[in-house]
Formats: sequence, C-alpha cells, structure tokens
Amino acid sequence: MSTKRNSVLNLSSPFFALKHVIVFLSLIILNVWFYRILVDFHKTQEDDRTERHVTMLDIPNITTTLAPCLLRDLEILESMGSRDARLMLSPPVQVLLSPRTNGTDFKPLIVIMITSMAESILQRQEVRRTWMQWTKRFRVQALFFLGLDEDAPNFQDIYSDLVHEQQVYGDLVVIKFQEGYYRLTAKTLRMLEWFLQFYKGTEDRPKFLVKTDHDVFVNVPNLLRHMYSSETWTSMRQNGYYFGGHIIKKAGVNLNATTKWFVSPDYWYPARKFYPHFLSGPFYIMSSNILEKLFNGSFTVPLYPFEDVYLTGMLRQKVNLKLTQVDNLQLLSVPNMEELRNMIAGHSIFSLTSFQQYWVHFTH
Ligand SMILES: *[C@@H]1O[C@H](CO)[C@@H](O)[C@H](O)[C@H]1NC(C)=O
Ligand SMILES: *[C@@H]1O[C@H](CO)[C@@H](O)[C@H](O)[C@H]1NC(C)=O
Ligand SMILES: *[C@@H]1O[C@H](CO)[C@@H](O)[C@H](O)[C@H]1NC(C)=O
Ligand SMILES: *[C@@H]1O[C@H](CO)[C@@H](O)[C@H](O)[C@H]1NC(C)=O
Repeated sequence: MSTKRNSVLNLSSPFFALKHVIVFLSLIILNVWFYRILVDFHKTQEDDRTERHVTMLDIPNITTTLAPCLLRDLEILESMGSRDARLMLSPPVQVLLSPRTNGTDFKPLIVIMITSMAESILQRQEVRRTWMQWTKRFRVQALFFLGLDEDAPNFQDIYSDLVHEQQVYGDLVVIKFQEGYYRLTAKTLRMLEWFLQFYKGTEDRPKFLVKTDHDVFVNVPNLLRHMYSSETWTSMRQNGYYFGGHIIKKAGVNLNATTKWFVSPDYWYPARKFYPHFLSGPFYIMSSNILEKLFNGSFTVPLYPFEDVYLTGMLRQKVNLKLTQVDNLQLLSVPNMEELRNMIAGHSIFSLTSFQQYWVHFTH
C-alpha cells in the first residue's frame, strides 16, 4: 500500500515540475512576443515618418533582464516616445506662449530658464516673489519653461489660466509638449531649440543660458560675481566656451530596480558601468555659443532618460566639450541660511515657506 502511494508520488512530482517549467517558459515566450510586437509597432511608425539613423533599441537580453527591468524599460520607452531625437523633436518646437520681452528690446547677458510645469503656479509665484526680484536689477532674465499637452482633456482651462498668468507676468515660455519624468531629456533639448530660435543671430544672443528648476533658489548676485570672476573668464578664454556646474564623476548606472533612476544596463548603456562625467541637473551654466552644437549633436546620440546624464554627459562628450567645476552649488541637500549666503544656488525639497524665509533673510 505504502509502496504504491510512493510510486504515485514519484511519478507525479516530475510531472508537476514539468508543468511548472512549461508555464514558466510560456510566460517568457509571451513576454518576448509582446515586446517584439511593441518594437515592431514603433519601428513601422518610425519608418513611415523618417529614415532611422539610430537603432532605436535592441531586444533586451532576457537572460540578464528580469521582468521588472523589462517593464521599466517599456515605461521609459513609452514615456520618451523614442530614443531618436529626430523623432522626438519632430516637428520643430511649437511655441504656445512667448515671453513678453523679445530679445530685441532688452538684452540680457544671462537668461535663466526655470523648468516648471503648467500646474505649478504656486511654486512659480514663490520664485517670482523671492529670488527672481534680483534679476530686475541686472542684465539677467528669468523665464519659466513649460510644456502643455494639447491632447490633455482640460487643455483649454489650463491654457486660459496660463494666458492670464502671461498677461500679468510675461515670463512664461509654453511649448506644445507632453510632460513626464522620462521626457525631461527631450524637454531640455526643446529648451535649447527654443532659445536658439527666439534669440536669433549670434550678435543679439544672451551670452549665457542657465538651466535650473523651479525648486532651486538662485542667489543672483553670487551668480553674477561668479560669471565676472577671473576664474570664469580664464576658462572662457582657454576653451572658447563655458559649460559649468557641479560635476558628478564616475556615477554608476543605477541597478536598483525599485528606484526611479533604475535603467537596465543591457538596454540603455551597454558594456559601461559608469556614465561620462556630467553636471548635476538642477543648475548648470552654458555659454550660448555651444548650444547649437549640442542641439545638432542630439541627432546622433540616442536619447537617454536622464536629462543631465544625457545633455551634460553623453552628448557633451560626443561633441567634445569640457566641463568646468563650479563650487558653491548645493544641489543634493538643503542648505541652511548661512550656507546659502555664499552659495550660487541651492536645490532642495523647499517647502513654500522656506523660499520666503530665505528671501527675508537676504533682504533684512
Ligand atoms: C546575455 O547575457 C549573458 C549573461 O550575462 C551573456 O553571456 C550574453 O553574451 C548576453 N547576450 C547578449 C546578446 O548580449
Ligand atoms: C519682437 O521683435 C520683432 C523685431 O525683431 C518684432 O517684429 C516683433 O513684433 C516683436 N514681438 C513682440 C512680441 O514684441
Ligand atoms: C534599492 O532601493 C530601495 C529604495 O530606495 C532600498 O530600500 C533598497 O535597499 C535598495 N536595494 C539595494 C540592493 O541597494
Ligand atoms: C546645426 O545644424 C544646422 C541645420 O542642419 C546647420 O545649419 C548648422 O550649421 C549646424 N550648426 C552647428 C554648430 O553644427
């Protein structure tokens, strides 16, 4: 009796194991099949529109790319639209709202472009009430750069709010663009494109473009002190341009699938452990004479989801530009009042009140 039961068990366990293997294999096959369909879909869409210059993506290495990674890749891909800037940036930038000052009537030395989002009106107000006040005393112009998706269901409401905001402040640049974390790379390239178009002709172009975000407190007097320093001019003279910020060296490709910076290395950055040196994203300075080179270069370097890694790292390296370290930037932790006194910019998770606290601290 007992031997018989044993023999039944012995027979059934390989059977069950086989069943599991079959289910497991079919899941993998389904996954690959689904992925291929997506890839083919993207490919046909692209082929219809333009000749492909950059391989959009390789089929990920299933043996090393586990399911969560695969899903993240798809999310990034979907969010970015494509890795090919030719596709992402086609057609040319479509501007919905332009700033009131028009390059010609006011000639800033520095334009500070603050990335923001349509709904972040409170954050913009905070910037306007605080550090942006400084710009009025100098040849510095601060502008907010936002994207607005024409297909969004509440487009008309948001748009009329922005039109009103523009009438009052005149400091918005609104382009047709769908926002998204993994789309920041394309958004920043659009920013360069807009800048090149708006300030046409190298004569009239502001000398510097500072890229920053709406949660960064910029100490404008310190920024100007830095721009006029002998250090900066030496760097300008030696290189013929300026590309400065807080340099991040040897940053590893993030392999922790639970963080938002995770990228499957097989897929995005093959055979490299480290990114090229790049500038911390919340604040960096570019002389305007490198913008066209960078923008043009983006058509030959496949897009990468992180704007700073891409623009100031991969793309910069490709077009052969050097970075200059700018000290006095605190972009990774919250600076205290005294620290900010000597600082050019401080990035943080500032609550709205702390922007005002900083400002009061400076003006009293
Ligand atoms: C896939 O990954 C395995 C294990 O890391 C490696 O041996 C293999 O060469 C990779 N295949 C491709 C096509 O990259
Ligand atoms: C901007 O300047 C140009 C001349 O260069 C002029 O034709 C245009 O009307 C101006 N736009 C605004 C909004 O002032
Ligand atoms: C991955 O990130 C999560 C959340 O940020 C963290 O809790 C976890 O310890 C990390 N895992 C590894 C292996 O670093
Ligand atoms: C960038 O591309 C445009 C259009 O193809 C070209 O006219 C321009 O000379 C290029 N500029 C640089 C700096 O490569």
